[in-house]
This record gives sequence, structure tokens and C-alpha cells, in this order.
Amino acid sequence: MKNTSKMPAVNGKISVAPSILSADLWHLGQDVVRVQKAGADWLHVDIMDGHFVPNLSFGPAVVRSLRQYTDLPLDVHLMVTNPLNFIEPFAKAGADLLTVHVESQDDTVTALKAIQALGVKTGVSIKPDTNPDVLKPLTDYIDLVLVMSVYPGFGGQSFLESSPALIKQVRQIINASGKKIWLEVDGGINAQTAPLAINAGADALVAGHAIFSSADPELALKQIRQASPEI
Ligand code: DX5
Ligand code: ZN
Repeated sequence: MKNTSKMPAVNGKISVAPSILSADLWHLGQDVVRVQKAGADWLHVDIMDGHFVPNLSFGPAVVRSLRQYTDLPLDVHLMVTNPLNFIEPFAKAGADLLTVHVESQDDTVTALKAIQALGVKTGVSIKPDTNPDVLKPLTDYIDLVLVMSVYPGFGGQSFLESSPALIKQVRQIINASGKKIWLEVDGGINAQTAPLAINAGADALVAGHAIFSSADPELALKQIRQASPEI
């Protein structure tokens, strides 16, 4: 089965991807509709295996349900030790982009080729302490780099002060590759920190707590957008 990814190519705009990790799961459908109406570009889905990170979250069934009810591109972030075990189930469930961590146990290029073979867009993520040079040999295989601006595992953490320097280094690596690759930043993004990420070179922002824990998710999303001048 070939997945036909809805993930757009780099388009010179800032994309905002609400993370459903902080949604109210009782009202997940309503929360998704609200952020979609408020102008969300993608939906960020955090997958945690209780091993790569000390937390558990969602499986392919949740992605399958989201796929039935929303046309938003599903940006699926695999925080798992063995991504090769999960690429096919998440591709079949309807993921549009699958991001694997370079710090996982599986070979990154093998994982990226497996994702491509299923017709899904590819991402690689680095944790805050990972040397971004690890990305240089991967730029031929990726549609997106996901820079973690918190230590992965939980929503609602604070944007690390070290993040802008890391984002700048990744921006240089992407530009030097000459490829059209998204630079997405994940962790602690809100109206105050979004400009720091954008100014350092991000063109996609994940936000969980700032949007879904707000009394007014539409306003929170718009404030992140307004904080994000067009690049
Ligand atoms: C953290 C996850 C993030 C998280 C972001 O491990 O990868 O996507 O949901 O949440 P906030 O925006 O609350 O930091
Ligand atoms: Zn994430």
C-alpha cells in the first residue's frame, strides 16, 4: 500500500503544528477541529515507547482515527528506540511525515529509506545535546529536520536557552545542502519563544501546551503566528 503524503514542500512560510499531546483526549476530535479552523498547518503527533523516553503516548490507532476525521497533514514524531518496528504501522495508519531520532538504536538511513518506500515524507530529529553535524550525511534523504528545544518526553517544558544556537547551526547545514528541507522546532514554543526560533532559522513550529492548555486555543495559535513574521 502506497501512502500519498499530504505534507507540503517547503513554501517560504512559517507552519504551525499543534501537538495533540496536550489536547483534552475526551474532546480530541473537537480540539482538532478547533485548531484546524484557527489555521493550524499540520498536526503534530508524539509517539513515545516508554524506553527511548520515560513516557507513553499514542499508537497507530490514534493516527488512523485522526486520518479519518481531518485533512491536516499528520506530522508523526517517533520517540522510540526501534523506529524500524513502527514505520509501516504508522504509514498504513495515515502518517504524512514520519520523523525518527538519530539517537535511536536503528540505522537512520535504513529507517529513512523504509519511510520513503512507503510514500511518506521523512524527518530526522536531534535532541538538544546532539551534535548537528550528524545531519550532514542525511540531507539527501530528508524532507524535515526536527530540532528538540526541550529534552523529549513531556509536554509543557520550558524552551531551552541553548536552542537558538542549535537551530542556527542546523539552518546552516540545510542551506549548505542546497535542498528544500523544513526546519521544525519542538518544545516550549509560545508567543514569547516563537520569535527566537524563527529568527534562528526555523520555518515550522510545534506547540502543545501553549495552544491546548490555553482557555482560548484559537487565540493562542494566532498569537504564535503573529509572533512569527513571514520569512
Ligand atoms: C516533547 C514532544 C513535544 C511536545 C511539545 O517530547 O516531542 O512535541 O508535545 O509540547 P510543548 O509545546 O508543550 O512543549
Ligand atoms: Zn514532538
